[in-house]
Amino acid sequence: MRAARVRPTSPEGTPYGFPGNVAPSSAIEIHDDVPKPQISKPGELLIQVKASTVYKDNLEWNELYPPSHATLGNDFSGIVVAVHDSEQDFCVGDHVYGMTHANRGGTWAEYAIVMTEEAVKKPDNLSWEEAAAIPGSALTADQALFRHVGLETAAQNGQKRVMITGAGGGIGTFLVQFAVLAGHHVVAASSSNERNESFLRSIGAHEVVEYKEFGTLNKVDVVVDSVGFQVLADCWSVLKPDGTLLSFDACSWGYREEHRQKGISNGKEGIRALYMIAEPARESMARITEHVAKGSIKGRVSKSVLLKDVREAYESAHSRDLGHGKIVVLI
Ligand SMILES: NC(=O)c1ccc[n+]([C@@H]2O[C@H](COP(=O)([O-])OP(=O)(O)OC[C@H]3O[C@@H](n4cnc5c(N)ncnc54)[C@H](OP(=O)(O)O)[C@@H]3O)[C@@H](O)[C@H]2O)c1
Repeated sequence: MRAARVRPTSPEGTPYGFPGNVAPSSAIEIHDDVPKPQISKPGELLIQVKASTVYKDNLEWNELYPPSHATLGNDFSGIVVAVHDSEQDFCVGDHVYGMTHANRGGTWAEYAIVMTEEAVKKPDNLSWEEAAAIPGSALTADQALFRHVGLETAAQNGQKRVMITGAGGGIGTFLVQFAVLAGHHVVAASSSNERNESFLRSIGAHEVVEYKEFGTLNKVDVVVDSVGFQVLADCWSVLKPDGTLLSFDACSWGYREEHRQKGISNGKEGIRALYMIAEPARESMARITEHVAKGSIKGRVSKSVLLKDVREAYESAHSRDLGHGKIVVLI
């Protein structure tokens, strides 16, 4: 079968690995002779993948570097083509979507094994493309706000001021929608109001700011950051003294220690600083699916590419000119 994999070594034979030797995009290769995976234990489903997505910085994910070739891709929509004899929740022919665990990837391929807790039935009102654009981004947003930050709804525990950086991005778009839906005051931050303001207001943002305007903001209770680097460093100044800062940017896993060493977080010890890795979770996907089916949460596709063009698509995910939504890979 056809799959897009990461070559495990550089052309000179040096193994790729995290963090010292992250593979460049040129290490993404299309192979036509990858063995079709087979179900080997209870809990596995064999999926004929119809669509997957591209994540900026995917090659920075340390879970990607097992000893052998990695097949990238975590989001999937597709058809169940085989189940274990003991399977009770899914059957052959089911239309499903979801996200595989970060350390397995596997969905930039014609067939993929996914675990039952990684899949839910796809709502009929979503195409394969629209469905694939949702799981990983929506799960990351849902878990960031409600599991890690511990945000409750405004009705439960009062309205909070919640700022999202990279608000127009793949995950930022879901963060804004979830926080608005939970009744909070949402400040949507991005690098360009000209590019993002009307879109961000259309998905419910109450305030729209550029990063360079942080100094003018009233302080916020929560910041969820999807951008990292200088934007993340500047977020400390926007938070109330007892606020919460969370980043999931792929390059920011060590930010708390780095900012402490550089003095960026000095005097901000009351701020709870968090980093997270999203996990597949069927109950989150079920909740997300309910919202999607009702139309209260929307995923977006910025462009669709064929699997053979996925390396170029990965490179284009690192440009700001794509518009809003996910790059979807059609398999
Ligand atoms: N920890 C986890 O579990 C987890 C899960 C999924 C994804 N991730 C990581 O989370 C980060 C955000 O993912 P995403 O899918 O939301 O990404 P995205 O949509 O591609 O980018 C998010 C935002 O980053 C900003 N940005 C900064 N530098 C950029 C550049 N060179 N090119 C394009 N945009 C740039 C853009 O906002 P502005 O122009 O407004 O700055 C963009 O909207 C990535 O690093 C991804 O790998 C982590």
